[in-house]
Amino acid sequence: MSPKLVTIERHITDTQRKFPHATGEFSALLNDLAFAAKIIGREVNKAGLVDVLGFTGATNVHGEEVRKLDEYADEVMFRALDHTGRLCVMASEEREDIIPIPKKFKCGNYVLLYDPLDGSSNIDANVSIGTIFSIYRKISAGECGTLEDCLQPGSDQIAAGYIIYGSSTMLVFTTGNGVCGFTYDPSVGEFLLSHENIQIPKRGKIYSVNEGNSARWNEGIKKYVEHLKQVDEETNRPYSSRYIGSLVADFHRNLLYGGIFLYPADKKSPHGKLRLVYEANPLAFIVHRAGGYASNGGQRILDIKPESIHQRTPLIIGSLEDVKDAEAFIQGKR
Ligand code: AHG
Ligand code: MN
Ligand code: MN
Repeated sequence: MSPKLVTIERHITDTQRKFPHATGEFSALLNDLAFAAKIIGREVNKAGLVDVLGFTGATNVHGEEVRKLDEYADEVMFRALDHTGRLCVMASEEREDIIPIPKKFKCGNYVLLYDPLDGSSNIDANVSIGTIFSIYRKISAGECGTLEDCLQPGSDQIAAGYIIYGSSTMLVFTTGNGVCGFTYDPSVGEFLLSHENIQIPKRGKIYSVNEGNSARWNEGIKKYVEHLKQVDEETNRPYSSRYIGSLVADFHRNLLYGGIFLYPADKKSPHGKLRLVYEANPLAFIVHRAGGYASNGGQRILDIKPESIHQRTPLIIGSLEDVKDAEAFIQGKR
């Protein structure tokens, strides 16, 4: 049966109808994000043709070289949302401190945290990259947002999503009740509902980790990955190894097919590489709503109280049974 023809705007409006007291502000914010995604996607999809590849010559707060598309995507997210009156504060991977709403604009009730372009190392090679976003309610007392608003535990998110710029551009998000995916149709300029209720298989057959780091892994991770490589027909092993190097792309594949993504702590990076607030938390919120699980090896990602915007965390995320197995190995129980 052909899928219903539903735009993201109509889906958001239909969902809002279930909340009679809704003001429409949250719905408008989701639509603002879909608009920003179209603008970023337009630039990403023609990256090879215009001068947006390569580096800006600057380095970001993490000491990483900033690519022009990182900066461009960051600018689009800010300019598409700063004047809307929906947000009280933002924070971005590409900016050291919180991003206040310019004084000339009204502050709103929501907080937006984002990774404007994830998978930057892949940009020039035309490999899938993405944008990740996380939305909270304002909790601070004053009129405008503060750092406190940006450091809420992931379990308090009210929405999270990502855009993946790949063979097609897809926007996947949840507002807490189910995960849905919209595929962009450039001929009409609309995101159309393509995945109504994404559920991640309880167990997969794919593992995704940068094995180049294995010499630095702790014992438990080494044992777990070796376990996945053993032949055992009963438990569908060996698993297949798939590692794209763009978190959004590796996560999206596992969300649809089942599997586990790991960026563990290691002897060189005791907190892992990925950032809690705008990478791990939004994807953890999504995977839990899709029936999966996300852990730092010892506890749920969503239960970690962030101490700083750019703090890193080990991330083990994907199919419930696979992540639980990995936790058992990391904790020395297997
Ligand atoms: P970003 O481009 O936003 O800095 O994120 C890159 C991250 C993530 O996308 C990916 O999973 C990871 O870096 C890859 O790291 P390694 O190259 O160390 O495997
Ligand atoms: Mn990233
Ligand atoms: Mn990034």
